[in-house]
Amino acid sequence: MSLWRKKPLGDLLAQAEGSSLKRTLGAWSLVALGIGAIIGAGLFVRTAAAAGQAAGPGVTMAFVVAAIGCAFAGLCYAEFASMIPIAGSAYAYSYVTMGEIIAWIIGWALIMEYALGAATVSIAWSEYLNNLLGGGIPYEWCHSPFEVSQSGVQGIMNLPAIVILSLLTLLLIKGTQESAFINAIIVFVKVAIVLLFIFIGWQFINPTNYDPYLIPEGTAPVLKPDGTIKNAYDGFFRHGWGGIIGGAGIVFFAFIGFDAVSTAAQEAKNPKRDMPIGILGSLVVCTILYILFGHVLTGVANWKDFADPAKGGEASVAYAISNFMPGYEWLATAVTIAILAGFSSVILVMLMGQSRVFYTMSTDGLIPKVFSDLHPKFQTPYKANIILFVFVGLFAAFVPIHVAGDLTSFGTLFAFILVSIGVLIMRKTSPEIQRPFKTPLVPFVPIMGALVCLGMIIGLDSQTLIVAAVWMVAGLLIYFLYSRHRSKLRNPSEILTHASDFLKH
Ligand code: ALA
Repeated sequence: MSLWRKKPLGDLLAQAEGSSLKRTLGAWSLVALGIGAIIGAGLFVRTAAAAGQAAGPGVTMAFVVAAIGCAFAGLCYAEFASMIPIAGSAYAYSYVTMGEIIAWIIGWALIMEYALGAATVSIAWSEYLNNLLGGGIPYEWCHSPFEVSQSGVQGIMNLPAIVILSLLTLLLIKGTQESAFINAIIVFVKVAIVLLFIFIGWQFINPTNYDPYLIPEGTAPVLKPDGTIKNAYDGFFRHGWGGIIGGAGIVFFAFIGFDAVSTAAQEAKNPKRDMPIGILGSLVVCTILYILFGHVLTGVANWKDFADPAKGGEASVAYAISNFMPGYEWLATAVTIAILAGFSSVILVMLMGQSRVFYTMSTDGLIPKVFSDLHPKFQTPYKANIILFVFVGLFAAFVPIHVAGDLTSFGTLFAFILVSIGVLIMRKTSPEIQRPFKTPLVPFVPIMGALVCLGMIIGLDSQTLIVAAVWMVAGLLIYFLYSRHRSKLRNPSEILTHASDFLKH
């Protein structure tokens, strides 16, 4: 029975009221926080991948489909974040609506989203830094021990990834306001360069690149070893309208992060009003930029170029500029700098989100108290930040990038599903609670949110699903061996002591 114990909403709100985290973030900072977490590898790397592998120039529509999926979940997040403005995001909402075990599961899944997300992007950051320095970093010091170069050099560890993670951890410890300020500068730089690419690139669009707009069947016949001819774009999700859906799955990663705004609810000045603005505002701004960016990129270069890793690959945007926008080579360098800046803010917000989820789980007793100790001067959860740095740093230093990327999507989608279902449950169980923002068209929007995200989980490759299952089983073991017995909800007097601890601050 105790597995399903729910945290009373009153406790949660009292906890938020008494918290020592400083309320420093206004509506614009929250929108910037969202954009900071959203625009990154997804836009700069996966747009070309989605065009080349599944959607062609129709990648613009793939962005629309992915955005609609995210909007369903985003509307549900907005209702919760305005109603329960507490730092733990999906974890905290589930604790009130679905009980402790589900909350634990979702908290554990969020580690995949935020901590592994930060690790993934820090590895990509290292690759781009090396790119900018003309490959000057020795291979062994920017690759994990599981990677070997074509000339046989074995990786040792990914040092640049550790360096960027440590710098951003120090910034987070220094303060949320300082972090938000640096984030705002980075967001300005990356949005400016995305806009520059859109405006300048528009003049170099070659309309023939849009014809045909979707990848036709039978596009790229390849000879199989057994002598038969196979089409590289066979498969429902690899051409035509199906390719739009396949492309949406690929660019979904580009939208991950808008939910991170909700982890900062306890640091928002006016969360009831500003949380929905932060979550939905950042989603809308990014969707518009993404569609325009995809339109220009596939208009400047032909999508077939992006199917060839030698031409596009990771540096696909720089490739398009250098080859099809004569006179604008400087823009290719600017884009690389924007990418580095963009990745930094994604890592920053992911690390921040993770430490806030840990903070809330720790105040509930489910993980050790050290995760909620605040710095005496900066009032940030500095110990959580340091432990997180060690964990994410080990991952980034010694694990190859592809292992972490899809797990990030899994963790995110899982959280989206539970938040969508949570809105339905909460409307039934606690209709009386004031909801400063209400998800429209209930139950349609939450049901669609859960279904679309479930569909995207099923579409992930089986290896990812197996690793995710192992991760979740490990989490359950920890819950049954440790967290369940330490939960503050087990012992109401602990809640009181805890609440008064809060009020003392
Ligand atoms: N949306 C983030 C990115 O594109 C995770 O890097």
